[in-house]
Amino acid sequence: MGLGKKLADYLDARLGIREILEQNLTRYLLPRNINTWYTLGSVLLTLFAVQIVSGILLLIYYVPNTDEAFRSVQRIMNEVPFGWLIRNIHAVGANIVILALLLHMLSVLFMGSYKAPRELTWVAGFLLLLLSLGMCLTGYLLPWSQLSFWATTVATKSSEEIPLIGDAVVRFLRGGAMVGQLTLGRFFALHVMGFPLFFAMLVLIHLFCVRRAGISRPPFGPGWQPAEPPTVFRHEEHHGGIPFFPHYVAKDAAIIAFFVSLLFWVVFFAPGIFFPPAAFEPADPFVTPPGIKPEWYFLWSYQTLKLFPSEFLGLAVQVLAVTLLLLLPFLDRSPERRPARRPLFVTAYVLGIALFIALSVWGHYS
Ligand code: HEM
Repeated sequence: MGLGKKLADYLDARLGIREILEQNLTRYLLPRNINTWYTLGSVLLTLFAVQIVSGILLLIYYVPNTDEAFRSVQRIMNEVPFGWLIRNIHAVGANIVILALLLHMLSVLFMGSYKAPRELTWVAGFLLLLLSLGMCLTGYLLPWSQLSFWATTVATKSSEEIPLIGDAVVRFLRGGAMVGQLTLGRFFALHVMGFPLFFAMLVLIHLFCVRRAGISRPPFGPGWQPAEPPTVFRHEEHHGGIPFFPHYVAKDAAIIAFFVSLLFWVVFFAPGIFFPPAAFEPADPFVTPPGIKPEWYFLWSYQTLKLFPSEFLGLAVQVLAVTLLLLLPFLDRSPERRPARRPLFVTAYVLGIALFIALSVWGHYS
């Protein structure tokens, strides 16, 4: 008998490991018509693992101090063995994560899987999206380049327009009147500790909700009927479905491989696309570089702020849009999930995507 089997028998006799594995792998059945969009959750879990490992490795050499931060990142890029690889994986990876997050959210929107009984899954997921954007924002400052400094100055300045407490909010975010050591300190603490801890907790809540409710049956094909919202708890079973392992895991693995390949393709062949020239100059509070733009996923917000006559109005519209999205399952309450039978909401989503793209392109070229 091999050592592996002996160890498995030992653990099984004490903890019933095989039963847990069977329940969650081979006997965990998914809907027969499950599609590729459902792999995006596993893609996100993998990409976050990559961010955590690369982030920990960067921490070994990064110094969160305004005198040293820029130089420490240069050292990682030029002197530390494979430092350039780890740094590029982390910086490019953040962009791929946001892309996968948006796609995951879109699939949930179009298939109506945010509806009862999955409202809480949506809320936890949406908070994860906001937190991910927060991690990107705080991470952006850490290299202490001109880009970091001025992008953070502009981003924090927009809170100034909040009536009465605007100035206090800006001071709170920056730790002082200007972006400086105190800003770097708090952004560093949030980026490497505060946000990741909160994030891990939310991922657990999200996965707990997904597992308890059961994966939703895709709203396509004959025989799909809207189900009334439950009044007592019921796990959605898929008798005669396909086993999660090995069938769906193989599909998950293929799509994960696609996203990881995309990440490495950018890292090796186009690493510059996420680094404008201002990312290669150390921060200088006295020189404003021309044409500082936020990352692509914040361009819509940047352009919205510019479009309104008052920045406060621009900010208010964004807060309203985000709140509406967060509360979406409580606003769109019909049990119908087939996209063709929800023309109002599906049109709103298509227009929303078109607006997001139009504002982003406009923001990029403005
Ligand atoms: C770090 C971020 C996230 C991770 C790791 C994650 C992970 C997952 C996983 C593993 C699943 C099950 C398989 C699947 O349907 O893909 C899932 C389902 C789901 N996610 Fe996420 N997710 C994240 C963010 C989001 C966001 C931003 C939203 C929406 C705003 C969201 C809403 C949902 C919903 C409603 C389901 C249930 C789908 C169904 O049963 O049909 N998630 N998520």
